[in-house]
Amino acid sequence: MKLVVVAGARPNFMKVAPLMWEIERRAGIDAYLVHTGQHYDERMSKLFFDELKIPRPDMDLGVGSGSHAVQTAEVMKRFEPVVLEQRPDAVVVVGDVNSTIACALTAVKLGVPVAHVEAGLRSFDRTMPEEINRILTDAISHWLFVTEPSGVANLRREGVAADRVFLVGNVMIDTLLACRELSRRSSIREDLHLTGRPFGVLTLHRPANVDDPGVLAGVLAAIGRLQCELPIVFPVHPRTRKALQGQNLAAMPGLIVTEPLGYLDFMKLLAEARLVLTDSGGIQEETTVLGVPCLTLRNNTERPITIAQGTNHLVGLDPQRIVAAAQKALSEPSANGRVPDLWDGRAAARIVDVLSA
Ligand code: UD1
Repeated sequence: MKLVVVAGARPNFMKVAPLMWEIERRAGIDAYLVHTGQHYDERMSKLFFDELKIPRPDMDLGVGSGSHAVQTAEVMKRFEPVVLEQRPDAVVVVGDVNSTIACALTAVKLGVPVAHVEAGLRSFDRTMPEEINRILTDAISHWLFVTEPSGVANLRREGVAADRVFLVGNVMIDTLLACRELSRRSSIREDLHLTGRPFGVLTLHRPANVDDPGVLAGVLAAIGRLQCELPIVFPVHPRTRKALQGQNLAAMPGLIVTEPLGYLDFMKLLAEARLVLTDSGGIQEETTVLGVPCLTLRNNTERPITIAQGTNHLVGLDPQRIVAAAQKALSEPSANGRVPDLWDGRAAARIVDVLSA
């Protein structure tokens, strides 16, 4: 069996890694890895391939940045000849980025069935580009691999045949568990002078948060209060760096601003943080498994199990609410949550079992 596996943006890389490891271990199944080039900075891409021992992509489409239409169209144009040449039995896409829908749509139009890893998640907020990518990718996929029961229910409601939906667990957690030992050895805490003292971690990159100056100012006002109580590490995404131009972050001595971090350093910080504030989807899941309190700076989440069972709290974007939620989390001895079923490090094996059956 021959698969074409697609990776495009940073949050794809830790999902593709365990699939590639698993395929490599098995006889009779081959993967041709395509990097669309949606993310291209060394620290947003190559570093992850190196650290996660993902094989070098067989093909880099080099699309780079652009408007949604331009980026999606460029991926489609450049991916089509690859599918025609490789003639795979299936194309595997992960997550919800523009590369995901672009490659899925290209493949089905060529008659190649698509497997979607991380299917079924819904924020029910159609202003999020990722929500559109999720709905469309699921509608045209043949195999839908789901991380949590809400995804199964969402797909059922959308009329997807039950025999295409597989609750397999979470490939991102496969990677987290596989890398725990290595990430423990990262020197990032010493490097940032955080040894022996509690700290928080902040990430922000959603267009709805960082591209709106009013929203961004509100979040920074909340962080301004919190960094007086707890040093906060803030690895800055390239989109956010642009949005922060002109902001006086130096006025916040407790805010430790860094470049985007590699996977192992970032997992070390997440695992040992007293508190995490984020608008990322994946970090809600990683903190749940690590048992670290997470405040999600959004009004919705497509990953409700992280709230129902895990350590995640949806706090929205109101500065006072963010500060109050953070102070409450800091006053509590520890987060209590449990690890969702099937988030056990074996999701990629289950997926490859289904694909090769
Ligand atoms: C994309 C995904 C988002 C995901 C996020 C993780 C879509 C619609 N969005 O958003 O779901 O959570 O990745 O990071 O697919 N840039 C660089 N270097 C890079 C990549 C981007 O400088 O390697 C800059 C460019 O100026 C670019 C901007 O960041 O215009 C945004 O990049 P883009 O890929 O369009 O979207 P993200 O915000 O990264």
